[in-house]
Amino acid sequence: MGSLSSLIWAFWYILPAYFANASPVLVGGGRPIDGGRTWRDGRRLFGDGKTWRGLIGGVSIGTLVGVVQYRLTPSFYGDFRTAVLLAFLLSFGALLGDLVGSFFKRRADLPRGAPAIGLDQLGFLISALALAYPVKTLSSGQIIFLLVVSPFVHWGANYFAYKMGWKSVPW
Ligand code: CTP
Ligand code: MG
Repeated sequence: MGSLSSLIWAFWYILPAYFANASPVLVGGGRPIDGGRTWRDGRRLFGDGKTWRGLIGGVSIGTLVGVVQYRLTPSFYGDFRTAVLLAFLLSFGALLGDLVGSFFKRRADLPRGAPAIGLDQLGFLISALALAYPVKTLSSGQIIFLLVVSPFVHWGANYFAYKMGWKSVPW
């Protein structure tokens, strides 16, 4: 594997996590995961920006991306079950990391939608990589590559969603 193709494979590997993290902007809404409940500091547990529809929709879309990826590059995954399990863990991991990030944002008294540089761009990625680790792993070089490019992908996707009128702030 050449170094360029190894970076492209890293991008291919993480794609379900990107889709899972981005799709709640379109499919989310409705009942918040915390059901309106507050933590002992009196502030919301996660806030209105984390909904069941966003979580379930995002995990479903990310997992479907894995199904398509298997059809396109079956040898990268070995078998269908591995591809789908990997996509599910990457997607669920991404949205779990996003949820944990919101928990800490609320503890820091940041309102819903307030930017938290670093946490917003990398929390979902680290959590996705951690959950998917037992199924299929990247090299440390590939992981560093994803840590470097993901914030730019995140900002680019959010700016696009803002320009499309899907969200009210460009971050
Ligand atoms: N979203 C959702 N459910 C999720 C995650 C996201 O419905 N589990 C939707 C919400 O409409 C949210 C939007 O996607 O406003 C953008 O997601 P994100 O930027 O993660 O949420 P924020 O509104 O910025 O909230 P927070 O400050 O908690 O990060
Ligand atoms: Mg946000």
